[in-house]
Amino acid sequence: MIVLGIESTCDETAAALVEDGRHLLSNVISTSVKEQALYGGVVPEIASRRHCEFISATVKKALLDAGKTMDDVDAVAVTFAPGLIGAVLVGVNFAKGLAYSAGKPLVPVHHIAGHIFANALITDLHFPLLALVVSGGHTELVYLKDENSFTVLGETQDDAIGEAFDKVARVMGLPYPGGPQIDKLAKEGHPVYALAKPKTENPMDFSFSGLKSSVLQFISRCERKNETFVPADLACSFQETALEALLQRVRYALDHVEGIRHFVAAGGVAANSRLRALISEEIAPRYPDIQFTIPPLSCCTDNAAMIAVAGTIAYQHGRRADLGISADAGLPLQ
Ligand code: KG4
Ligand code: ZN
Repeated sequence: MIVLGIESTCDETAAALVEDGRHLLSNVISTSVKEQALYGGVVPEIASRRHCEFISATVKKALLDAGKTMDDVDAVAVTFAPGLIGAVLVGVNFAKGLAYSAGKPLVPVHHIAGHIFANALITDLHFPLLALVVSGGHTELVYLKDENSFTVLGETQDDAIGEAFDKVARVMGLPYPGGPQIDKLAKEGHPVYALAKPKTENPMDFSFSGLKSSVLQFISRCERKNETFVPADLACSFQETALEALLQRVRYALDHVEGIRHFVAAGGVAANSRLRALISEEIAPRYPDIQFTIPPLSCCTDNAAMIAVAGTIAYQHGRRADLGISADAGLPLQ
């Protein structure tokens, strides 16, 4: 079974072909990130316009790279939620038109499910599974009893972790996207500055706005008092505080949720080198009965291969969209 995945929720226009839910035939990503960097973050209107310009060629290239035509495709899977509404609409409408004209079924995919199932491109998934989804728009701990049932155990009460990385980088004068910049700079620093530790009522929820404000206040205090600070130390202090908060929730879930067989990381922030090291060196060894998977960097950030994989699973479970489907900016994972 060959599924064409289409993704356009943020600033990546992506298309990919995946066979039988695990063999990647092609994976094409066009991005407006360089243009967005001029503005220090994603400008939704620019993202939508670039999606309109890129989408035809991106899908065409995905078919060409795989050596396939639409006749070979069994279903078209598209991210319909959540994301920047104008951006998601471009992918959804393109996919609708393509599926209708080619006479193929259309499968709706939730972006978070896509991030989680990116891991199926690397390894067999074992259920019950716990997924830590960390991206520019999401911070969630998701429990999957099986491949078709999602329970959100905890989620951010305010900012997503990637958003906090990007905002802190921005006030430190680093280019967008800030996550990889903080990651790089933090390697040269030490966690010497005390910042506000995230606190939440539910031990599996997250909160990053207090930590983000604490960094902003630290910088303005230094400016007011004409004091200098070491940027690498601030990047490192922020990253350590944010990641410790993440891992505290992960440990809690692994200790308290019965029967977990597999832990996967997902989303753009899973590309963070320190997070990857902490999971594999400090968390995984404490749970020898649980399989730990952290996808390669290319599977962490937005792509359409993950949408094709999640689409294959959704298709197998009978999920179809009709031509009335629209984009949903904020639909939670269900
Ligand atoms: O999953 P993704 O590509 O898009 C969303 O669905 O949001 O995630 C993008 C986020 C951005 O906030 C970016 O700064 C962050 O992932 N990111 C990182 C790293 N690489 C990307 N954050 C920390 N360290 C990294 N190495
Ligand atoms: Zn994403």
